[in-house]
Amino acid sequence: MRATVFLGGGRITSALVAGLRLAGYDRPIVVHDRNPRKLQQLKRQHRVIAEPDLQNAVAQAGLLVIAVRPDSVRELLKQIGRLHRPLPAVSLAAGIPLAKLRARLGPSVHWARAMPSPVCRTARGLTAITFGRGFPSVAKQVVRRLFARVGQVIEIPESKFDAFTVTYSSSHGYHALAALADAAQKLGLDRRSALTAAAHALGDGVVAWREGKIPLHRLLHEAATPGGVAATVMSAMDAAGYGRIVEHGLRKGIARARKNAGG
Ligand SMILES: NC(=O)c1ccc[n+]([C@@H]2O[C@H](COP(=O)([O-])OP(=O)(O)OC[C@H]3O[C@@H](n4cnc5c(N)ncnc54)[C@H](OP(=O)(O)O)[C@@H]3O)[C@@H](O)[C@H]2O)c1
Repeated sequence: MRATVFLGGGRITSALVAGLRLAGYDRPIVVHDRNPRKLQQLKRQHRVIAEPDLQNAVAQAGLLVIAVRPDSVRELLKQIGRLHRPLPAVSLAAGIPLAKLRARLGPSVHWARAMPSPVCRTARGLTAITFGRGFPSVAKQVVRRLFARVGQVIEIPESKFDAFTVTYSSSHGYHALAALADAAQKLGLDRRSALTAAAHALGDGVVAWREGKIPLHRLLHEAATPGGVAATVMSAMDAAGYGRIVEHGLRKGIARARKNAGG
């Protein structure tokens, strides 16, 4: 049985293999990275085959997953060179378009892009996938099944990938949690109570929306009595540019992803 081979053994690979093992994925997983220490750690923690030689790693692949930072992709693919057997490959690199990937490794490699998050470590994440044209349908199933092990999978056109990438980051949750808890501390709550209150406010609200059938505007209405405290907080935040700030951040993220595409 050929292996699922990750090139790059950093943060996202570590989260993915943890989630895959948690979900009972029992196909061989090979990881190649230039840092022997990271390889040994992954081997110890998640029963991966640590492969320090790039060409040996690629030779074992039934599915190749590119998990190096966007600015390292070009060099990595150059090191691999041209491949002469059909091979499905999935790039996790933010911003790098299929057209750029297709120009490397030769025509027998079929490319897809995927955008998971480190939440896949718990096998309750979300991954967006986009397939390049001509991607074989059997291989599509292999890719969908791989990511479905670690959470929900959605397929979106490549033109929407950057918008998805900047929206879907678990950093939003941690960032909002940190901002809300910091503000609560400034108002006098101790750190632990501030974090607990903020985590419940954010987490419980989101879970209520995800698990219930009540539309978002109704939940907002229910949680904020007109003229009451929550409504006052929300309208003060909106007047201070809450929505504008979020949109500004996302636009900056898209610009960053487009820079990756140019590399
Ligand atoms: N982290 C996330 O939440 C997340 C989510 C979705 C997608 N992604 C995408 O996944 C990719 C990896 O992100 P990451 O956060 O996991 O990065 P990371 O923690 O830096 O991991 C990348 C690993 O690849 C190694 N590497 C780089 N070039 C290499 C080469 N030529 N040969 C062998 N090893 C090489 C790096 O080594 P050095 O440390 O020595 O450079 C590092 O250990 C990025 O393209 C990112 O856009 C990340």
